[in-house]
Amino acid sequence: MKIGIIGSGYVGLVTGVCFAHLGHRVICVDNDVKKIAMLKKNHVPIYEPGLEEMIRENVAAKRLSFTTRISQAVSQSEVLFICVNTPPKENGEADLSFVETVSKEIALHLKEYRLIVEKSTVPVQTGEWVEKTIRNYQPRRALFDVASNPEFLREGSAIQDFLKPDRVIIGVSNSKSEKILRKLYGPLKAPILVTDIKSAEIIKHAANSFLATKISFINMVARICDAVGADVEKVAQGMGLDPRIGPSFLKAGIGFGGFCFPKDLSAFLKRAEKLGVGFELLSSVLAINEQQKQYFVQKIENHLWNLNHKTLAILGLSFKPDTDDMRFAPSIDIIKALEREGVHIRAYDPQAMKKAKSIFPKIEFTANPYAAMKNADALVIVTEWDEFSNLDWKKVKRLLKHPIVFDGRNQLNQAEMKKLGFQYHGIGRPR
Ligand code: UGA
Repeated sequence: MKIGIIGSGYVGLVTGVCFAHLGHRVICVDNDVKKIAMLKKNHVPIYEPGLEEMIRENVAAKRLSFTTRISQAVSQSEVLFICVNTPPKENGEADLSFVETVSKEIALHLKEYRLIVEKSTVPVQTGEWVEKTIRNYQPRRALFDVASNPEFLREGSAIQDFLKPDRVIIGVSNSKSEKILRKLYGPLKAPILVTDIKSAEIIKHAANSFLATKISFINMVARICDAVGADVEKVAQGMGLDPRIGPSFLKAGIGFGGFCFPKDLSAFLKRAEKLGVGFELLSSVLAINEQQKQYFVQKIENHLWNLNHKTLAILGLSFKPDTDDMRFAPSIDIIKALEREGVHIRAYDPQAMKKAKSIFPKIEFTANPYAAMKNADALVIVTEWDEFSNLDWKKVKRLLKHPIVFDGRNQLNQAEMKKLGFQYHGIGRPR
């Protein structure tokens, strides 16, 4: 099939590349001239394992191309995916102005039947607005349908998540749209759930909010564990063995970050409020997540006493491993709070340092984890990159002024760290 992807950010690029990989002809659009110029030279503006190679392969096979012109995608594609950004407004609501602009542009160029699919994460009832906007702005009376097909990919494993999804959600208003989307996704052999458009929109917000709720829940349990000297890892294991609960997303730490959870929770909450539904549970989930970062800073202070003039080695800056994404990364609030206390920070991250430099003008970045540790008062793990599990701990002990580790992600084996002679402080783990 011929597919147009409008918005070549994270979701758009991965979707476009994966559809091309499945044999479709894909044209990716973005109004960022520099980004499109980069992509045309096979340079990828984000770090995502496997993405660059797949772009190169599919461009060479002439299944994938890039343009800045929406008109080109509308005239060439049977299906158009709206993948533009829906950033948070100051009050937490989703800003849908890009979705509106793109809908108007599609309308202007519509000459024959197209299926227009919202893939960006949007609040419920956006589909109705997209449809209304296209109808109002189209100069010709071409037929079209709107559908919702939320995306569930995770940064760092986006390609695998797209190609091997747990489920594909298709929100449609008629069988013609369903047929087209089934044809597109059929080769993935994943369970397909067909719903109305509004339910599909809610599924995305509800799924992300539920996962975030699990995280805040276990983080509160971790605080109880800290208070009594119990082990949250064991508690999560015990809870997760119940198939009604499940073991995933019960990893206690410094809270969730990234461009999806914080933004989607706020947007869902705001949408609920506008609909007259007070969803206080979500306000608590967000509040716990904010406190969790300060809880970690407090933990560091409780063990190091005065932080002023102390040096900390920070490992990991991105909001999670295997990505260079710094958006809403917990590291931001944690480092800023430590800086306010007068801490000197030396930091290392395998991928995110370039992006982090503009966020933290005062911290010292190092070329490897060990350089961050030299004469530092303690080591602080903020993001659990794999390479931090296999550090040469004897060397770490020699480099640090004191063998103290604050593990914000419960990444390390506590018993082994103790055996190696470290003072180890995780989240919700007995000392
Ligand atoms: C999330 C969802 O997992 C995807 O299904 C969804 O498609 C995506 O948002 C989106 O809406 O686009 P992502 O933001 O890439 O994906 O990251 P996750 O792997 O879900 O992690 C989110 C945050 O939660 C990270 O900061 C992670 O460190 C934290 N987390 C995750 C925990 O603190 N504990 C856990 O047990 C799991």
